[in-house]
Amino acid sequence: MQSLYPEKDQYLIIPAKRYYDREFAEQEWQKVWTKTWNCAGLASDIPTAGDWFKYELGRESIIVVRQADASIKAFYNVCKHRGRSLVTADFGHANSFVCPFHSWTYNQDGSNRRVTDRDYFDERALCGELSLREIRCDQWSGFVFVNLDIEATPLEGFLDLLPTTLGAYPFDAMRIVKDVSIELPCNWKVAMEAFLEPYHAHITHTQILPVVDELYNQYDFFHNGHALVVTPVGLPSPRFKDQDSINPALAYLLLEAGIDPQTFEGSAQDVRAAIWSAKRGDKNTYGLDYSNYSGSQLTDDWNPSFFPNMTLNAHPEGTMVMRFLPHASDPTRCHYNVWVMLPKLREGIRPPGYMGVEDDVDISGKVRPARRYTSVEDPQLGEVLGQDITNLIHMQQGVMSNAMNEGVRLGEQEQRIQQLHAEIDRCIARQ
Ligand code: FES
Ligand SMILES: [Fe+2]
Repeated sequence: MQSLYPEKDQYLIIPAKRYYDREFAEQEWQKVWTKTWNCAGLASDIPTAGDWFKYELGRESIIVVRQADASIKAFYNVCKHRGRSLVTADFGHANSFVCPFHSWTYNQDGSNRRVTDRDYFDERALCGELSLREIRCDQWSGFVFVNLDIEATPLEGFLDLLPTTLGAYPFDAMRIVKDVSIELPCNWKVAMEAFLEPYHAHITHTQILPVVDELYNQYDFFHNGHALVVTPVGLPSPRFKDQDSINPALAYLLLEAGIDPQTFEGSAQDVRAAIWSAKRGDKNTYGLDYSNYSGSQLTDDWNPSFFPNMTLNAHPEGTMVMRFLPHASDPTRCHYNVWVMLPKLREGIRPPGYMGVEDDVDISGKVRPARRYTSVEDPQLGEVLGQDITNLIHMQQGVMSNAMNEGVRLGEQEQRIQQLHAEIDRCIARQ
């Protein structure tokens, strides 16, 4: 971190204004959101030509469309006549896009097919480009990224070492089984930062301490604002008193891996290694190919953060994707979008409990679930994320209070938050 961000110590305290000031939000819009690659959706959501999904990024709306040649293009979701949105649903299929206002029509590749009653237009009113405005679009492992900056450097370089670091996980072969979106009453960074640090777990998620070491984590920092935190799972927290016994949470993990906790001879410290052997051996409960994964990846939470606004909780048995999206006009609100993606699991096996997938959810991967728009009262995201959301709804008033005029204080376990702000400032400083 120190070598990539020598300015890091300037971010030990962060002005609270950054979480509500409209001028700062406008700078973020001009220099971060409209200049940076960010994940618009999943390639698996648009398998055939003409399939599209809509992506709302702040004040802009974007359509991402599968092309006849299997490539993917992205356009502003804006009719070139007077600006009506062409699509309003989250997903769809179209041979062409017909504007519902005056029926101007666009082909799948964005080119203008029809200006209705063209003879009634003075040609001077039709000067310039009548096709949809295209946006830079690229993919990595099934994630579709867009960049509103036509001059942006390629996605591959932007992602730095993340693709290599995460190479073992076949995200592009995973299928989305759950898609939840919530409007939160806090700035997008307030929301995201709760998922950039494991520091809060010891008090917010006390139930995980018997089975998660949320203190001694591995932190890796990359160029362009990206990072990775690896949190050991299957090991009691150093804050948890009993470091030896197979507590009920560890017993559950062992069982899940096909090991009988009653006859297990090791201590709590041996659980992770036992699970690694079980998954690599004949007790492969989930029926997955684990051969590409390291030991740590077989148990631990691999939590990469993609600047500016996406995190993954990557596990071989499934991955949770989170995106934190700025509100179109209000810096004290944001949209929190969570996807659960699963590989093909052994017939009849449900995903691990921490994925928060309800029993009635179809996990076959054959049905693309509709996006659920839920609320902070009933987020439908499972126990752990529910606890996080309870913090988030009590943050914005505080960061806007006079009592925070000295700023927000950050410790070593919160280095990724320092990095996020340092990277935002680097973007803002760029011409
Ligand atoms: S605004 Fe689209 S056709 Fe008029
Ligand atoms: Fe949390």
